[in-house]
Amino acid sequence: MDILKTKADMQAWSADKKRQGKTISFVPTMGYLHKGHVSLLDIGRPLSDELVLSIFVNPTQFSPDEDLDAYPSNTANDLDLAQKAGVTAVFLPDKSQMYGPDYQTHVFLDHLPQYLCGRSRPVHFGGVATVVTKLFNIVMPDVAIFGKKDFQQLAIIRQMVKDLDFNIRIIGGEIIREEDGLAMSSRNAYLTTAQRASAVCLSRAISLLKQRVAQGVRSVPDLVREMETFILSFDHTRVDYIEVCHPRTLEPVEIIQAETLVALAVQVGKSRLIDNALIGPS
Ligand code: PAJ
Repeated sequence: MDILKTKADMQAWSADKKRQGKTISFVPTMGYLHKGHVSLLDIGRPLSDELVLSIFVNPTQFSPDEDLDAYPSNTANDLDLAQKAGVTAVFLPDKSQMYGPDYQTHVFLDHLPQYLCGRSRPVHFGGVATVVTKLFNIVMPDVAIFGKKDFQQLAIIRQMVKDLDFNIRIIGGEIIREEDGLAMSSRNAYLTTAQRASAVCLSRAISLLKQRVAQGVRSVPDLVREMETFILSFDHTRVDYIEVCHPRTLEPVEIIQAETLVALAVQVGKSRLIDNALIGPS
């Protein structure tokens, strides 16, 4: 497994593989890998000759009041997991590699970032779209794999790839969960034992909604109200949003008629946790 710390080395590595006629799968991450990340590597490995993982805690997708400085890190363990998952190269840049002092170019989308997480994190998706553009240009993959846990991020990447004509196939990986249903996340590391017990409220609230939809309830305001009451019955919780929306445009819907996305963000102690699921009326 090659470890590349500069853009020039990573680009030269990928260019060399391409000259040899090899294809590249790519999984971008911010490190502190868990089984969710590994599941994306597992999807990517059989699709190409090479499998590249990037680890970079991207500062431009955090606002000043967010957890950039506290973001968990364990590079030794990440490299160990990467090796076991069959990664052939790890791109491990530092901040100065990615953003020089005169950095001034950003990628913004008009509509998709206005919904869901974009409302409470206004700078977030501009930072994500920008860094992923840079990573695509540095790694030059044929396929890139993103998790459906960050459903809005995946939608934004798909749109960006279409709009900016990247010749890269984007694949979405299913949400990997703990046994009790909590979606795996690097941010789960911040939870105390009591908060960890409450964190199950997100997936349980989704199950509650699915149950009500199966019983015939279609009114989104009624469903959201019930989910909110349920979540707030757990200690240490504050609801950021619960939205039911169109799975492609992310525009809110009032009545569940076709396949719909339910997405939510809940602050549990210091951690802001997200979850989502696709639901249908039948
Ligand atoms: P990070 O939060 O490290 O996540 C990296 C990838 O792992 C993302 O595609 C995310 O959706 C996926 N992932 C996280 N938890 C998952 C789970 N439980 N099941 C399945 N997939 C999961 O997302 C980012 O980093 C950054 O925004 C990044 C795209 C790297 C840009 O900086």
